[in-house]
Parts: sequence; C-alpha cells; structure tokens
Amino acid sequence: MAIYQLFFIKNLRFIFIVAFIIILNIYDVNSFNKTQNFPFPDTTGIMKIDVGQGEDLWILTENYELYHWDGIERKFIRKAKDYGPIYDFSVGPDGLAVIVSRSPINNNVFIRSDIDSWEWIYGSDVRVPIISISNCDYNKIFTIEDRKLIVCNYDNAYSCDTLKYGIYNQISCAFNDKSLWFIGSGHYIYLYINKYIEIIRSEVPFKQIKALSEQHVIGIDYDSTLWEYINGTWTGISNNVKSASINYNDDIFYVDNDNIIYKISKN
Ligand SMILES: *[C@@H]1O[C@H](CO)[C@@H](O)[C@H](O)[C@H]1NC(C)=O
Repeated sequence: MAIYQLFFIKNLRFIFIVAFIIILNIYDVNSFNKTQNFPFPDTTGIMKIDVGQGEDLWILTENYELYHWDGIERKFIRKAKDYGPIYDFSVGPDGLAVIVSRSPINNNVFIRSDIDSWEWIYGSDVRVPIISISNCDYNKIFTIEDRKLIVCNYDNAYSCDTLKYGIYNQISCAFNDKSLWFIGSGHYIYLYINKYIEIIRSEVPFKQIKALSEQHVIGIDYDSTLWEYINGTWTGISNNVKSASINYNDDIFYVDNDNIIYKISKN
C-alpha cells in the first residue's frame, strides 16, 4: 500500500468530521441572513423578547424590567418603571404593548396608554398569579391565571371573562388570523379551536411559543432549540436559544443564552 493511501485511510474519520463541519457552516450561512445589531448593554439577562411589526422590539430582563427598542437612536429604553416588577408582556401587530405586573396584593394587567403611562384593565389576587399574556390587537387580550384561560374584549372599555378551565402554561394569539395557540398539558403545543376542541400540534414538550397564523408558529423546546412550524413541517432554526419572537414579515428575533439578540431574515 502506498504511503499516501495509508495516510488517507488513517485520517478518514478526521476528513469526514472536517467535511461535516464545513457543510454545516455553509448550511447555516446560506439558509438565513442573520444579524445582531440590537445592543443591550445591561449585564442583566434577558428573559423574554417580543416583536410587533418590523423592528418594534420589546424585552423583559431577569430583574423583571421592561425595555423598548428605540429604532431611531438604536438603543433600548426602560419602560413602565413605576408599575412594579413585570412578570410577562406582549406586543401586538398594532404596536400595543400589554404588561402583567405584581403589587403586594394584586397581579395587574396594564395596556400602554401614553409615553410613560399605562392603564389598568384587569387584576387578580396576588395568590393567583397571571402567568402569561398575549394580545391579538387592542380588541382582544388573552391571559392565563392559575387554571383559567381568560379573554379581555374591548367595547368602549375592557371586560374580562374566563373562556375555559384547564392546564395552560403560555398563550399566543396569531397576528395574521387571530388563531390561538398555547402550551398546555404536558407542555405540548396546542391550537385552541373552541371550548370543546383543542388540537395538539407537537410530539415534544416546549418552553415557549409565538404564533403567526393557524399554520405558522415558532417555539423553543427543552433542549433550547428554536423550531419553526409551517404547514405541518418542523424546521430547526438555531440552538442555544432562550427566547424568540417573529414579526409580520416572518423575520425571527431571538436571544441566545449569552444574551445576544439576533434577527434572522429569510427574504
Ligand atoms: C401553507 O399552505 C397554504 C396552502 O397551500 C399556503 O397558502 C400558505 O402560504 C402556507 N403557509 C405558510 C406560512 O407558508
């Protein structure tokens, strides 16, 4: 056997690994156009990211502080400072931001009503935490409180009622068609149809979801992998993801475990 053949065989495994890494990199770079120009200099970790239209970005820190991205000066600005620790928030396609904050006696839902003021719309006893919020738009806001799925409808004022009792961990109202997704029993993903029908959409448990339509959702599983579901197909988007959201143009924004904010544009 010639020396060069021996060399080749000995290093076959190594050559395979190198080729595999190169292919992975090409795949990663070519399939998406990924950028990171949303600096968040605060050393506190980011717990949640959500986006309305375009780059209308909001983040919640692990210290329960809320920030809004100022797209003109390109920096994050602290919001709702005087409303207590904020446990969840959501931003709709119309730009309306809603928050859940906690006082010593109540959990409170507020909508943003001016540059630095927020209007109270709903509250619960502090012993019954409101664990998730999602607004379809200003007309319809969903929350989860203990074992209750609650809907707040607007008709001159907000009125909130229990839609259904059950196991709900996170709720997400889709921008495009107002369909309602949630993480429910066993942390699987479900599509809410009505009081009697809920369709299960995942075979593995998920930590977080954000819905765009009845056939389009993104979510993070318990291995911190970000997945996108379109018309029955799950596609892996990225690893090491803490929180993610998607806007009306299908741009995905996510925060990784190092607190860096990325934007992925497919177009
Ligand atoms: C899903 O399929 C329908 C019908 O084929 C199509 O119109 C729609 O654009 C698809 N949805 C997405 C999010 O690609």
